[in-house]
Amino acid sequence: MILYGGDYYPEQWKEAKDILQEDLSLMKKAHCNTVTLGVFAWSELEPEEGEYDFSFLDEMIDQIGKNGGNVILATPSGARPHWLADKYPEVMRTMENGMRRRFGNRHNHCYTSPVYRDKVREIDELLAKRYGTHPAVIAWHLSNEYGGECYCTLCQEAFRKFLKDKYGTVEALNRAYWSRFWSHRYDDFGQIEPPGPSGEESMPGLTLDWRRFVTFQTVDFMKNEIAAIKKYSPHIPVTTNMMPGYYDLDYYKLAEHLDVISWDNYPSWHSPEHLCEAANSAFWHDFFRSLKGKPYLLMESAPGCVNWKPFNKLQRPGMHKLAAFQAVAHGSDSALYFQWRKGRGGVEKFHGAFVDHAGTENTRIFSEAARTGAALEKIGEIAGSAAAKAEVAILFDWENMWAYEGCSGFMQNKNYRAAVLAYHEILWQMAVACDIVHPHADLSGYKLVIAVRQYVTDKETEENLSAYVNGGGTLFAAGFLGMTNENDLCHLGGFPGNALKEVFGLRNEETDILYPDETVKLHCLGKDYVAKGFCERLCPSGAKVLGVYGSEFYAGTACVTENRYGKGKAYYQAFNDDGVFRRDFLAALIRQEKIASVLPDAADRPGVTAHKRVDGKTEYLFVENYTDTVADKVRLDGQYTDMESGKTVDSVTLEAFGVRALKRTV
Ligand code: GLA
Ligand code: ZN
Repeated sequence: MILYGGDYYPEQWKEAKDILQEDLSLMKKAHCNTVTLGVFAWSELEPEEGEYDFSFLDEMIDQIGKNGGNVILATPSGARPHWLADKYPEVMRTMENGMRRRFGNRHNHCYTSPVYRDKVREIDELLAKRYGTHPAVIAWHLSNEYGGECYCTLCQEAFRKFLKDKYGTVEALNRAYWSRFWSHRYDDFGQIEPPGPSGEESMPGLTLDWRRFVTFQTVDFMKNEIAAIKKYSPHIPVTTNMMPGYYDLDYYKLAEHLDVISWDNYPSWHSPEHLCEAANSAFWHDFFRSLKGKPYLLMESAPGCVNWKPFNKLQRPGMHKLAAFQAVAHGSDSALYFQWRKGRGGVEKFHGAFVDHAGTENTRIFSEAARTGAALEKIGEIAGSAAAKAEVAILFDWENMWAYEGCSGFMQNKNYRAAVLAYHEILWQMAVACDIVHPHADLSGYKLVIAVRQYVTDKETEENLSAYVNGGGTLFAAGFLGMTNENDLCHLGGFPGNALKEVFGLRNEETDILYPDETVKLHCLGKDYVAKGFCERLCPSGAKVLGVYGSEFYAGTACVTENRYGKGKAYYQAFNDDGVFRRDFLAALIRQEKIASVLPDAADRPGVTAHKRVDGKTEYLFVENYTDTVADKVRLDGQYTDMESGKTVDSVTLEAFGVRALKRTV
């Protein structure tokens, strides 16, 4: 089945037994089959140190189970009771300026503190022991949106140990950091402090290592939780809810320790950027699926609206179902929400929920949610199937993001995510399936690999990309390729560094930065285009010139190139553009490489796209209309059965924000 439901906080309604009873019957009416319990329940579970009260969880889990529902059970480490912070101040997070935070909010713990780790382990073990084999419990939800960083003395010590383990000697670290710059050489590890505005900000290698350390230490904290859970509940999968585009943590590293991937998605539907939001949401679905290459969970999204954006617009009729089906279309086996019922108080009381403060089923949102639940039930057989094999991969790399966005040079406000997502959006619009992968990933199965602003290329990336092209792959790189190594030290001998010069048959000699209103003309594919943002001046050394600049002192020089290397080809785009060039060029590559689209006319229907899942015997096609107008007679790539109506169709007409799930036997 496809999991449908979401975060449920019965502890907030302890005194209102009638409401809790009503919830169970409303959940049935909404076709909810899953709730997440206990996310922030620590002070209820352990009201005083060492004194536990599991009665409300006992009752809730049993009741949900008796009603045929599933429970995703959370560990409570995302927020802690007052007594814990009062008694053990070290558990509270310390800010970059050295000030320890006072009690309040959530997610504000020190992830190094042995006391916090002990306390978390204790409560996690008790939960695992008590519920780890309960038939209703189907997954463990570790903490909540791990994130942030701490600068306390314990964390600083751990950082120094991390560096010592990595470099061995302080000389090696000095070399990696190019520390003679501004006389910043370290004499011993004890001198090292985390980077930040009140201290060191001029050493990119240190900043990168701090980011790595924050991920490392968070993973270590998470492993402490996993060990506690697995000790008593080894067979129930663990997950943690991740966030789209979260800068602070390298999710590839978290993924290694999780059984199932899950994430939280809150697009700004119906904003002026609505279609772009739809494409971005698609990107992160693709990313989280690609982490393990198997079904994942949409752990949170909003019924109706959120409460924390500058403008919290209502979701238009149809959007709830479309967003749920989008998740399933990309490979999710769930559509889960924050939250089941709106709280009466607290800062999230106006956040969307299945059940409003009105408390009844007679609301627009509840009806939409119930219809969506019924529709998901009808397509339940899709759960467990794989996303159709993607022939295209886009590289995504946290270390590259940190180094590229952090480097002083070129222009301020470099935005790696926006640059990468802009290429994905084109594929999304063309209904071309795409994986999002790390530059060290096995690329051999892809016809086309896209590397956008891949500024950091370490040895492994160089070798991987070279081997991919050499073996017959098509690699398309757009801007800033191969400038520095993993410590942000520039590659010597010209960009892109080392072997990649051969692969691309060129050198990128210098980068011209354009002011916001400036454009540079260029000519390629028999048409005129414009560059925006930046233009690199290339010196081809073997690459065929496909496009040339048409203005500025570098008019007539190469800006788009193709190079044959081994059995494959490497293309280079030396500038940023306004979206038109990259759309045409990618479309040309897709045609040339005979890459399949799952919807014949998608490219001509802005905001209409499609995705496929397969299970060997059956193909499931989702056709999605993100526009606020009817998409009339959308032609399909053959005949399908509409999974909701049972009709046989070879085209579909989609209402505004409409979606269809179709299937056929292969
Ligand atoms: C996050 C959190 C939830 C809730 C929602 C609100 O994703 O995980 O606890 O705060 O946001 O949108
Ligand atoms: Zn700390």
